[in-house]
Amino acid sequence: MEIRDRVAVVSGGGSGIGRATVLELARRGARVIAADINLAGAEETADLAGREGGIVIARRCDVTHTEDLAGAMACAFEHWGQLDIVFNNAGIGGEDLFADDPGPWQRIIEINLVAVIDATRIAVREMRRAGKGGVIINTASMGGLLPMPDSPVYAASKAGVVNFTRSLGYLAAQDGIRVNAICPTFTDTPLVRRSGDERVEEVAKLVGGILQPEDVAAGVIELIEDESRAGAIMRVTVRGGRDYAREVRPY
Ligand code: NAI
Repeated sequence: MEIRDRVAVVSGGGSGIGRATVLELARRGARVIAADINLAGAEETADLAGREGGIVIARRCDVTHTEDLAGAMACAFEHWGQLDIVFNNAGIGGEDLFADDPGPWQRIIEINLVAVIDATRIAVREMRRAGKGGVIINTASMGGLLPMPDSPVYAASKAGVVNFTRSLGYLAAQDGIRVNAICPTFTDTPLVRRSGDERVEEVAKLVGGILQPEDVAAGVIELIEDESRAGAIMRVTVRGGRDYAREVRPY
């Protein structure tokens, strides 16, 4: 899909990978809703885009609330009469599976997986209604393809996103709606900096380096533009650049 003059909704658009993607989409002539639970972050993104001549609306949205997701997508139609691209990217980490309180791991599943399913569901319904097709990109992680002993629930949530996305590849032929996922390795964003700079250096060494949010945004742009790979899972790594996870053939 050509990005110029399209309309996009980006969740988690107030920071890190989401912000870098909002800015890149706006540079390429898309109009974007930066949706984030942190409205101040989304407003900063909109401000940064505006300084470069981009058109971005900041909107508060908790992706675990169906009405917030629906509201963000309705906002696209209200302002610009269309919705072409949905990037389901909001996500969190930071689990302690064996702690007393199960709340934190459950919240990871709610935000990283359940909300992605809900947002995709709403986006498909809206795009079907508009009848012009569209592109939905879901942020998974290399942790969705590989085990993560330190973060098993995060890994499970992202593996869920990977196979959910693969399973919807058929929508491209049926409705002209392409669903893809992106799996970055370790990326330098506030999400990973929360664990401290020393830990970041350690992990970066372990996994062969650290990506910048702009590297991931470039992958998202490629996924939007490339019409040929419905349901495909893009990997973004420091060593290998951008490539695709092996397709799983049944039987
Ligand atoms: P980040 O922390 O910089 O940005 C995440 C954004 O999501 C924040 O602005 C936050 O306010 C927002 N958010 C959190 N909960 C939300 C909710 N309930 N509703 C709406 N917005 C919410 O993190 P980063 O790294 O940019 O993460 C973006 C995505 O990339 C996440 O899905 C993450 O799991 C994924 N990812 C990150 C990697 C990394 O190493 N940083 C590697 C692979 C995937």
